[in-house]
Amino acid sequence: TPRVFSGIKPSGGLTLGNYLGAIKRWVEMQEDPTYETIYCVVDMHAVTVWQDPADLSRATREVAAAMLASGIDPTKSILFNQARVPGHAELGWLFSCVARVGWMNRMTQFKDKAGKNTEKVSLGLYAYPALMAADILLYHATHVPVGEDQKQHVELTRDIAAKFNHDYGVDFFPMTEPVIEGPAMRVMNLRDGSKKMSKSGESDMERINMLDDADTIAKKFKKARTDPAALPTDIEGLKDRPEAKNLIDIYAGLSECDAADVLRDFGGEGWGKFKPALAELAVEKLAPVSAEMKRLLDAPDELDAIMKQGAERASEIAEPILSRTFEIMGFVR
Ligand code: TYM
Repeated sequence: TPRVFSGIKPSGGLTLGNYLGAIKRWVEMQEDPTYETIYCVVDMHAVTVWQDPADLSRATREVAAAMLASGIDPTKSILFNQARVPGHAELGWLFSCVARVGWMNRMTQFKDKAGKNTEKVSLGLYAYPALMAADILLYHATHVPVGEDQKQHVELTRDIAAKFNHDYGVDFFPMTEPVIEGPAMRVMNLRDGSKKMSKSGESDMERINMLDDADTIAKKFKKARTDPAALPTDIEGLKDRPEAKNLIDIYAGLSECDAADVLRDFGGEGWGKFKPALAELAVEKLAPVSAEMKRLLDAPDELDAIMKQGAERASEIAEPILSRTFEIMGFVR
């Protein structure tokens, strides 16, 4: 059966971008009987940049809580944290010997995060895409639902699989497909429509956090940057209006329709009318999720037990694949 794998880094709070670009889609795939679904809190990726130990534990539980509160059901999906399954690190090392430095040099996310000062970033930040390929291929996952920003990393995963298969003369690792569908797969920063909304942006006003309360959400949308023109009446009119397009895409993502539908209802209106409607919709969708997240975060033992059990199920799938990989490469074990 087609197998789905995806992950979120526990580094800082979760945003509306993570919710619309990832978690929401994960729940849909879980409910589709075609797929077996595996969802991971990728804690080993988080430490590519400094994480205070207490923050890492809290953020790991927060990501697990967000998944559960959004509808990931541990009886239907495997939910676990990466550090509990050592095969990720093992296969990650093997893949860092398959991937080429030239491939890593082309990763745009590394260039964005490292900036000019590449001497001072961790080696892990650079090698990160090889670990991500290992996360996916340790389960022979065929489908990876992600936001637009992860597309290049999934393509690199295919390159690693193809090179491994070619070098060892096997047909062992599958060619994984990224699944990037929906109106809000690239949610932008609320203050600058040319940058993506991220957990780590400097100002809290640029993002909606999944745990923000109703007043904060309303204030952030009210202050969100827009141009002065009214909403256009069709999607053609969104060209060269990145901030307008972003707010409309967010509305579409939250209400499960597309931008054209939103413009059918709001085309010609001003922002003074649209922004409060958007805030109301966001609160309606996020408030129950954040309330449940808070409840779960007060029960860390429950969260830890779910992740532990998920890790046991994940290991059962991973172990034979990892053993076979070692065998193909000629290791004596
Ligand atoms: P991370 O933790 O940065 O983000 C988790 C997921 O949220 C999506 N996302 C967004 N989608 C739309 N708009 C945004 N502004 C936005 N911000 C984040 C991301 O695309 C992602 O799907 N490298 C990955 C984690 C990872 C992974 C994996 C993913 C590690 N191993 C294996 C899939 C499979 C990352 O840093 O995601």
